[in-house]
Amino acid sequence: MSETKALVINGSPRGENSNSYKLTAAFLEGMGISDHETLNISEMNIKPCRGCFACWNKTPGVCVIKDDMSSVLDKIMAADLIIWSFPLYYFGLPGALKVLVDRQLPLNLPFMTGQESGGHPSRYDDTGKRHAVISTCGFYTAVGNYAAVDAMFSRYCGEYLDIYCGQGELFGVPELKKRTDEYLATVRQAGAEYKSGDVSPTTRAALDTPLYPQAVFERMADASWGVEPQSGDVHDEATEANESLVFTRQMAALYNTEHYDKDRVIEMRYTDIKQTYQVVLTKEKSVVVTDNFTAPDTTIETPFTVWKSIAAGEIEGSVALAAGQYRVTGDFTLMLKWDDLFGFGTPAPAATAPSPFVKRAKFINGVNIAGAGMAAAFIISGADGWFVVAAELFFAVFWGVTVFLKVPLTCYFSASSYGGEKMLKNPLFTRTNRILTACWAVEFLLMSAALAVCQLYEVNSLLAGIGSYIPAPLLGIFTAWFQKWYPAKAARGRVR
Ligand SMILES: Cc1cc2nc3c(=O)[nH]c(=O)nc-3n(C[C@H](O)[C@H](O)[C@H](O)COP(=O)(O)O)c2cc1C
Repeated sequence: MSETKALVINGSPRGENSNSYKLTAAFLEGMGISDHETLNISEMNIKPCRGCFACWNKTPGVCVIKDDMSSVLDKIMAADLIIWSFPLYYFGLPGALKVLVDRQLPLNLPFMTGQESGGHPSRYDDTGKRHAVISTCGFYTAVGNYAAVDAMFSRYCGEYLDIYCGQGELFGVPELKKRTDEYLATVRQAGAEYKSGDVSPTTRAALDTPLYPQAVFERMADASWGVEPQSGDVHDEATEANESLVFTRQMAALYNTEHYDKDRVIEMRYTDIKQTYQVVLTKEKSVVVTDNFTAPDTTIETPFTVWKSIAAGEIEGSVALAAGQYRVTGDFTLMLKWDDLFGFGTPAPAATAPSPFVKRAKFINGVNIAGAGMAAAFIISGADGWFVVAAELFFAVFWGVTVFLKVPLTCYFSASSYGGEKMLKNPLFTRTNRILTACWAVEFLLMSAALAVCQLYEVNSLLAGIGSYIPAPLLGIFTAWFQKWYPAKAARGRVR
């Protein structure tokens, strides 16, 4: 099958830096079209239609204006798929694109009879030609904003695929890349589906899901202008905020109140630019404070450049923390909840088959429970004590070996309490668990040694067994404390 001949008519004055064009590029990628032509109309010489109708009566099919439009018409006629890519301007097409649309008159015949839509028939055979309309707009939602666009395209080409996305300016914000990349992946999926038919209802639903909830988007959008709203609609130039304040406000705007656990005051100290702000989180909202600070619950001391790179996903926050690139003092639970508190837009993971990590965790849990149960049963039943010695020795080796593996054994037990499998990428998490796994391996070794001594001196095996288990709950308490204490201590920058 020959590749679809695609023509992109890019009506954004931003050319290929356009938000809308980012969606178009993803769509083409999804369709597997590598070879297409893009007409950046802002770089072309296309004059407005003169309304002379010469292309209908004097020179049928040919326009009297001599500019780039004649080659555009050739390309439109030759294409199998035309993608109209543009920003929404005043609830319609940007002017330059409308000029191009008007100049297509030579492609139509003048007749009106028999035209259901009240339009004019095509001069050429355009059977099989497909149209897709891809556009971003600035408001929170595309819903209700594209009525004029739809009215025009439905008359112009009948059937067409539309992808309209609100919050378009967010495609240019690196800090929100995680969410915008997700949307682009959905557009890619739409392209793959459109190639062989139509976009599925699931993909359509994802395309129609706003990037962020309305309140979050509007807070972010307002913060991004770097000016404070004054009374009424007036914006005061004198209050123009610097980049770090705008950035901090945008971060605060992402606060997801659904994950509120307690009031928090977060102090952001940007060490390289010597700026400090406080982000106050309450049940209802987040507020960025620039003076009259209160006692912070958690203080983050970081170069602004580092924090921006983390927000843009260029470096992993936990890796940067473990590497001492920034410091956290005070309540460390904030860092453990960070993704929930400021992770808007990350959809709940689809119900998929359990990952190999989850399967392994279940297996290891099973082995441990079965082992502990068997050891207890042997002790109670008064069976041969050497067997219990061997069992404890087995556990010591089993746990001890994993101290030297990429994933030490206690990771499998504690990951679920700290955000799941992704914690394996957190060096502080694995370092904490390496130490804990080693502690438990030593505990099993000591248990085994104590039981062996009891065997040699013929101590009652029930007493010996019970005695040997006493340190386990103590180590359990230590584990619960150490899991929280060590990362917080390391985050303060004192432990290396
Ligand atoms: C002159 C002008 C008019 C606009 N009119 C609207 C509008 O009516 N509705 C809307 O939601 N956004 C409107 N916007 C915002 C753009 O549609 C939005 O910024 C879009 O993402 C830009 O896309 P682009 O990068 O592809 O050009 C307007 C922007 C400009 C510059």
